[in-house]
Parts: sequence; structure tokens; C-alpha cells
Amino acid sequence: MAYKNRMNDMDNKSWLKFQKSWFIHNPPRRKKDVLTHPAKYPETMVQEFIEFFTKEGATVLDPMAGTGSSLVAALRCGRNSYGIELNPKYAGIARDILAEEKASLTEAGQNSSLTAEIINGDAANATSFDIPEIDYLITSPPYWDMLHARGSATQKKRREESDLDVIYSENPDDVGNIRDYEAFLEKLIHIYAAMKPLMRDRAYLTIIVKNVKKGGKIYPLAWDIGRELGKVYTLKDEKVWCQDNQRLAPYGMGNAWVSNTFHHYCLQFRKEDK
Ligand SMILES: C[S@@+](CC[C@H](N)C(=O)[O-])C[C@H]1O[C@@H](n2cnc3c(N)ncnc32)[C@H](O)[C@@H]1O
Repeated sequence: MAYKNRMNDMDNKSWLKFQKSWFIHNPPRRKKDVLTHPAKYPETMVQEFIEFFTKEGATVLDPMAGTGSSLVAALRCGRNSYGIELNPKYAGIARDILAEEKASLTEAGQNSSLTAEIINGDAANATSFDIPEIDYLITSPPYWDMLHARGSATQKKRREESDLDVIYSENPDDVGNIRDYEAFLEKLIHIYAAMKPLMRDRAYLTIIVKNVKKGGKIYPLAWDIGRELGKVYTLKDEKVWCQDNQRLAPYGMGNAWVSNTFHHYCLQFRKEDK
């Protein structure tokens, strides 16, 4: 049966495939420039979301753009994009990567007139920047202040490779530097809510996030964002991103239950009348 597709440019088979509530995506190895950044998500995965939630020529926003993965993904599938990033170093790396990506698209004879713009600033001020109406937002926040946790295996490895950043920045406006969980959550929700005037009616937002383990307990960041941001946008759904190429660590072995957490929540919200 033929449906009128108002959402995207996909055929029914690809649409159906994306509807599964979980997926496995193992990030490809990162290049040195983006390795500097402590936590980036794979462009290949973001592209699948952008292709589902928008049509070609649409405009995508990532308010915490890091080294620009969302914008690279948008370019690769013919969408315009804007990114806001607080740390000038990451904003600079993102701009270089985007220039390279545009050049290789031009070389391949693809559309190079697309916008892919990084704004160096605080996402809390998004409405004061020159950003047009947004059709889709995809982003991932700092997972609270977890990069400050000295003990984690990833952090130890990064310290050994000494030129890699261990935290995003010392900037107090960086939400990853807010040590109180409730204050962090409140600021993050405030930032996402501040995007609402920029979003077109019925646009979707995807927030990729994990629950956080700290001091022997879970802080349910993903679920708290679902509950609190669900008061601003409609919480529609979750899609669980699983990684199955990570090394298992014997946390708590013989003593206590501590999982190896290899999944993230991709939370889908929609701007609807509330
Ligand atoms: C999880 S990382 C995003 C990584 C990105 N998805 C990528 O693939 O490169 C979160 C980013 O949020 C940035 N950030 C933190 N607070 C911010 C704020 N108030 N405004 C804008 N960016 C902020 C950090 O500098 C960091 O780069």
C-alpha cells in the first residue's frame, strides 16, 4: 500500500527498519583531531536519525555540537545545519572538519551550497544567535560531571595519552562542570526548553543520553530528561543504541552487581501544543 510520506524521503522498507526500538551501532575508529574531544557520537549513526526525521534540504540544529558530528552527518545527506558549541577549541576543530567535508562533497560533484555553520557560544543564548527555523534537533549533552570522575577506565586511558582532553572545559557555563545533579538537570532542561521558539511546529528532537553511575548508585539522567523535558515537548519514544564491541571490565566481581553499560537512550520529543 502506498502512503504519502510527509516526514522523510525513505521507502517503506527503510522506514520499517528504523522503527525497531533498539539497534547496534559500533562507532568506527576516530581520527586524531576528533579524538581530542572526550565524547563524540558517530556521524554514521546520526545520519540515520536525520534521514528519518527530515527531508532533503531541511535544517538541523545541534546545540552542543562538540566537533560537529551532527553537521557532518547533515551535509552527507543534503540537509542544512547549525551547531552551537561553547568550547572555542572544539568549535574550531568542527569548522575545519566541515570545510574538509564540504570540499570532498564538491569534489564528488554533490551539493556544496548547503549551510553547515558552527556558532561558538552558550546554547542558553540560542535565540540571540542568527539561526533560522529548525526542522529537527539532534544532540547529546555532557553526561553530568562524569568526565571529572578520575577513576573510570576511559579517563585513565586518555590521561595516559596526554594530549587528549579529559574534560570539555573549565568554563562555568559548561553544564558538564555543574557538580550538583539537580542543578545540572535544571540547567540542561532550561537550555533545551530555550530552543522551542527556534523549532518549527511538530518538529522532532532527539536527545542521546545515558543514565549515570556514580558513588555506587544510578542517577537516571535519561529518565529524568524524559520526565522533565516532557513538560515542554511531548516525549514520544525511546530508541536504545547498543554497542557490542566494548571490552568487559570485572566491576564488583564476586562482591556486588555493577553492569558494564553499553547502551544509550535516544529520546524522541516533538514540539506540539501543550
Ligand atoms: C557530549 S559532547 C557533544 C559531542 C558531539 N555530539 C560530537 O559528536 O562531537 C557535549 C558538548 O557540549 C558542550 N557544552 C557544554 N555546555 C555547553 C553550553 N552551555 N553551550 C554549548 N555547548 C556546551 C561541551 O563543550 C561538549 O563539547
